[in-house]
Amino acid sequence: MKEKTYHFETRAIHDRLKEAAWEGSTLPPIFQSAGHYHESADNLSRTFAGKTEDHIYMRLSNPTNRFLEQKLAGLESGAGAVVSSSGMAAVSNACMTLLRAGDELVASRSLFMSTYLLFTDIFKKYNITARLVDPLNLKEIEAAITDKTRFVYMETITNPGMEVFDISSVSKIAHSHGIPLLVDNTLASPWLCRPIELGADIVVHSTTKYLSGHGGALGGLIVDSGTFDWSTPKFADFGPFVEQKGHLAYLHRMFKEHHINFGTTPAPMHSYLTAIGLTTLGLRMERHMENAITVADFLNNHPRVEWVNFPGFKDHHSYGTANAQFNRQGFGAMLTFGLKDEAACFRLIDRLEMILNIANLGDCKTLIIHPYSSQYVSFPQDLRDKLADPCLLRLSVGVEHPEDICNDLALGLDAI
Ligand SMILES: Cc1ncc(COP(=O)(O)O)c(C=O)c1O
Repeated sequence: MKEKTYHFETRAIHDRLKEAAWEGSTLPPIFQSAGHYHESADNLSRTFAGKTEDHIYMRLSNPTNRFLEQKLAGLESGAGAVVSSSGMAAVSNACMTLLRAGDELVASRSLFMSTYLLFTDIFKKYNITARLVDPLNLKEIEAAITDKTRFVYMETITNPGMEVFDISSVSKIAHSHGIPLLVDNTLASPWLCRPIELGADIVVHSTTKYLSGHGGALGGLIVDSGTFDWSTPKFADFGPFVEQKGHLAYLHRMFKEHHINFGTTPAPMHSYLTAIGLTTLGLRMERHMENAITVADFLNNHPRVEWVNFPGFKDHHSYGTANAQFNRQGFGAMLTFGLKDEAACFRLIDRLEMILNIANLGDCKTLIIHPYSSQYVSFPQDLRDKLADPCLLRLSVGVEHPEDICNDLALGLDAI
């Protein structure tokens, strides 16, 4: 209860700190132990039966991972959480828990590349159909839901489309059809937006990004709101899990069926590094947001930039939704911009001195990438042309001094 009385920034530092302290440490140790011994056969048996919170084996649980899970569940306003080895492990597990052969899902057509491939290509092998929709078009979302749909899946801010969907309205649509809303909140972070407070049922993250912030750890997260009713006929297959865990039936099923059997547990070193990064989340996000606005304005006013896609512009299609549903003054720290052609994009990247050409985002360092020639390079040409633009650059604005970011971009733009 006490945790709730502190502000988000304070909680990102102090939540669980004292409970997890070891010999007065301010972070949990990295519990580098494959197995945990038990004083009695009875205790191990009871732990296997889920009657104690003790640890058994690292693939199942680990004290360093648990520290991060409890902390992040609280920061995302959820009832429970499980960390995983990568964001994609979280996305896959979150969805597979709900899907059976023949099922359908409704998802934004604008998705992180690997999520897109998972939904449209990999799931096909299991006779699962993803119906892709415009995340801003409520009528289209509702029309895509059929008797076979098991969930709706959206990204808070799409990567790299920069669309901000209306969480509350989409959750109402999903709930009116008896299905949950899953949200990938990676690009917003719980500092900017907490989808569960707006009606989402499950939240996933790549903790590799803002939550860790230093680019030194890979990780994923699934947070369960604990509020979706899994006891309806539509989710009759959740029956045994509802009986065992009640409101946490989903998280329990995800853990029991997918997480431990697919082996998606993170190494505790990654959870430790993520926990270190997490303490500065509030401070970093504030600076990320401010810098993104400055950099977006700079690019927008530069004669060599054709266009800038950033939800912080008043005339952007998602400005109103972002303003209304984000907790703070901010619009994310990722933006895309266009140059006259692909060669100009390459020349800009090659001329930069400080900004790094890296396939990552949400790092404290400013990162740039030309998605068409990198992430989308091995897509079939027609799909590549549909999803990526040869003239587009994606910029993840870091927390450096904004003048240094703009000056480096100016150097690059001079070279095109
Ligand atoms: C929105 C989003 N979701 C999920 C992922 C996957 O995360 P990871 O690379 O940690 O597997 C990414 C990675 O860039 C992402 O941008």
